[in-house]
Amino acid sequence: MILDGDQTSHIDQACQQLRHGALLGLPTETVYGLAADAGNDAAVRQIFQRKGRPAEHPLIVHVASAAQAEHFACDIPPFARSLMQAFWPGPLTLILPRRAGVASVAAGGHASIGLRCPSHPVAQQVLHACLRLPEPVYGLAAPSANRFGKVSPTLAAHVQAEFGDDLLVLDGGACEVGIESTIIDCTRATPTILRPGRIGAAQMQAATGIPVADPFASAAADDPAVCDDTDAPAAPGTLAAHYAPNAKVRLMDARSIQAGLDILGPQARHMAVYARSRLAIRAPGIAHLPMPDDPAQAAHELFRVLRELDARGVALVWVETPPDDAAWNGVRDRLQRAAASA
Ligand code: TXA
Ligand code: MG
Repeated sequence: MILDGDQTSHIDQACQQLRHGALLGLPTETVYGLAADAGNDAAVRQIFQRKGRPAEHPLIVHVASAAQAEHFACDIPPFARSLMQAFWPGPLTLILPRRAGVASVAAGGHASIGLRCPSHPVAQQVLHACLRLPEPVYGLAAPSANRFGKVSPTLAAHVQAEFGDDLLVLDGGACEVGIESTIIDCTRATPTILRPGRIGAAQMQAATGIPVADPFASAAADDPAVCDDTDAPAAPGTLAAHYAPNAKVRLMDARSIQAGLDILGPQARHMAVYARSRLAIRAPGIAHLPMPDDPAQAAHELFRVLRELDARGVALVWVETPPDDAAWNGVRDRLQRAAASA
């Protein structure tokens, strides 16, 4: 059931459900989350079950403010505090040492925990209302609200399509950022990006005065395997099938796409081209979608476009490789993972 997230009565209803161990489709500024009370192990286990996600794959815990981070994390280093101050609420997840005895199921049993304070007004209202309950809910464990390995949802309708009508989903409109939060590991001496997102290394360096390791910068970005060690500490989205639409995705430069289109000719079917460059397409069966020149706009629409291509029955998408520029790291990463899964 989708309910309008703007109404206070719906926020209260959602909090009651969370309090009683039910799951909630929660809008955030990045993507929709599948949320549960992080302190309720049975509820958190339901997230893993409904997503089809392996139990050792840790979830992000969402908190109302930096003050609430103390409930879940300990030994928070000064640079992590600076990051919270600069970027919370917002699309940044910090991996921190986990406080003993809290949210161990949500953390997949790891000694660390991923924390994020989302800025979406509906998420903020839910988190604050949860804190005001007679028996407070201190944080919400929420992975992206998609089946394991599939494209993250950026509309309430996407969440319903994944999990059916019995899940309560608060409608918060189209997610502004469109790709998942940047994840920064703050348990190492040098803070290290584990998943690129809107907030980049340069911004974090400027805010903290501390160098940030970015394995996704330039040359290394060609190889998504740079973060492919799920053990030490777990790296996000490392499985090949992550972010996979049903359609096969191929990343190519504009010239290769044009050369391929010229060979294919008018009989080609069930194909789409998603490109910034203008291309000559002679086949009426090939959908041509323009990719925005602005990386933020491209991120905003990326997952919706992939889902729409699936809905149209497109079997193959040729995507123009994003520019080799840090502002495109998040979009490039998601596209490389989508392309790696075929
Ligand atoms: O934008 C987002 O981050 C969205 C919204 C809903 O907040 N959430 C999200 O969650 O993308 P999820 O579960 O799909 O991705 C979380 C990633 C996982 O791939 C996991 O590996 C990583 O965060 N992660 C969580 N806790 C971690 C930890 N303690 N150590 C290392 N990685 C962790
Ligand atoms: Mg996800």
